[in-house]
Amino acid sequence: MTKTAETQHDVHELIKKRWSARSFSDKPISKESLDTLIEAASWAASSMNEQPWKYIYAHRGTEAFDRMAACLMDGNKVWAKEGAVMLLSLAKKHFERNGQLNHHHMHDTGAANTSLLLQAAHHDIFGHMMGGFHMQETLQEFNINPEEWDPACFIVLGYLDDPSRLEEPFKSRETGKRARKPIDAIAEEHKH
Ligand SMILES: Cc1cc2nc3c(=O)[nH]c(=O)nc-3n(C[C@H](O)[C@H](O)[C@H](O)COP(=O)(O)O)c2cc1C
Repeated sequence: MTKTAETQHDVHELIKKRWSARSFSDKPISKESLDTLIEAASWAASSMNEQPWKYIYAHRGTEAFDRMAACLMDGNKVWAKEGAVMLLSLAKKHFERNGQLNHHHMHDTGAANTSLLLQAAHHDIFGHMMGGFHMQETLQEFNINPEEWDPACFIVLGYLDDPSRLEEPFKSRETGKRARKPIDAIAEEHKH
């Protein structure tokens, strides 16, 4: 199943192809593929080229993967535990060069996540970012100092499977239409 975006304009195929899937097959993601996605993430732009992002990941079938899935809220855990790879996306709060607060750390980490997911779509790997996780459990599991790092989101990755294997309400969400605000609602020309 694909959920290619229906666009008004000539948007690039890769952007139309990426979507947040929930039904994942058993097929594992190779180290080469995963490294490629992470390298794509690393090429995102960032304030002062700080590259404030960091990923911690685990492959399905490992205890580490199960421990990561356990940090998710129930509504995510039920389908995300079938993914091939789970990542935690972290954003470093201070610049390495001078210790100053980096106000752009979450912005830039989000940009890296998008690069990762676009590269993934190119390989027919689909991902789902999840903000629905238990913060305290996550900080504890990964031994994160919240003064230094903000957990941005979890990302589950995998090859697609038949959505009919999902339980409701996830099956309907998986097969539902994708929609966006019209561009008039998100952009306006600045006029004096
Ligand atoms: C930071 C962030 C957090 C999200 N958290 C969740 C989540 O916890 N559970 C979920 O099912 N989807 C989550 N999503 C996915 C969004 O719901 C999804 O991107 C949006 O509905 C647009 O759909 P699309 O990605 O398929 O285009 C999250 C997305 C982002 C960027």
